[in-house]
Amino acid sequence: MEEIRLPGGWINEVVRVGDTVRRPLRSRSRFVHELLKLLRQRGWPAAPRFLGVDERDREILSHIPGHVPWQECRTPGVTSRRALARVAELVREFHDLTAGTALAGAEEVVCHNDLSPKNTVYRGPDDGLLPVAFIDWDLAAPGSRIQDVAHVCWQYLDLGPSVTDLADTGRSLRLICDAYGLTGRDGLVETILWWQDRCRHGIEAGAAAGDPAMRRLLHAGVPGSLRAAYAWVAHHRSELERRL
Ligand SMILES: Nc1ncnc2c1ncn2[C@@H]1O[C@H](COP(=O)(O)OP(=O)(O)O)[C@@H](O)[C@H]1O
Ligand SMILES: [Mg+2]
Repeated sequence: MEEIRLPGGWINEVVRVGDTVRRPLRSRSRFVHELLKLLRQRGWPAAPRFLGVDERDREILSHIPGHVPWQECRTPGVTSRRALARVAELVREFHDLTAGTALAGAEEVVCHNDLSPKNTVYRGPDDGLLPVAFIDWDLAAPGSRIQDVAHVCWQYLDLGPSVTDLADTGRSLRLICDAYGLTGRDGLVETILWWQDRCRHGIEAGAAAGDPAMRRLLHAGVPGSLRAAYAWVAHHRSELERRL
């Protein structure tokens, strides 16, 4: 069957074959496959199904039809209040399904660790887009609830120098936390800064070690953007915290 290259990823070569997606196996793939199986067993529809491994050692996942906003210029519907709230609700759902399981180990839940619009499938008209699934679970690992919620706030609100309306962004931050039902928000902005710093270090260290994907991100100037985003959040930290 024909293989169609899917654009939008920086890390993996991802292709579509019929109604499946093929992605290279990675060091944590076994864990991810167990997680996808668990979510499916629990009847949660918002992640790809794990269907096996093909003859070229690639994972076979179900293809989820819809719109993935991987380009810089996003469809505005992606950041509507309804869409943001629904993202937070979906995160709450898979967190609750993993809490207390062997996969979460001693941690609160299993985190996705890369939640962002470019890893989200949306459906609906442009002005009424709603998230229906998260893809790209490669980085999933045991963690704390606030870890994913902070990543969502950073990525879906694009927290950094591009923010023009701080009051509106503050309302969206609170909306995400409320829709998730996050208790204990004191560490949220701190965790956003932790993510921004950690991602930059990860790219720089990976590129220095010769990882081709990290070198691509380095050459695209991503560490500089992460540094600017960190500086912006650090500068506005108390205002953001006040609005939570
Ligand atoms: N299960 C899926 N269903 C629909 N589209 C997918 C699926 N998995 C990946 N894609 C598409 O392929 C692109 C790259 O996939 P992704 O897994 O995010 O790669 P990377 O790990 O490089 O970020 C996504 O932007 C999306 O458009
Ligand atoms: Mg991706």
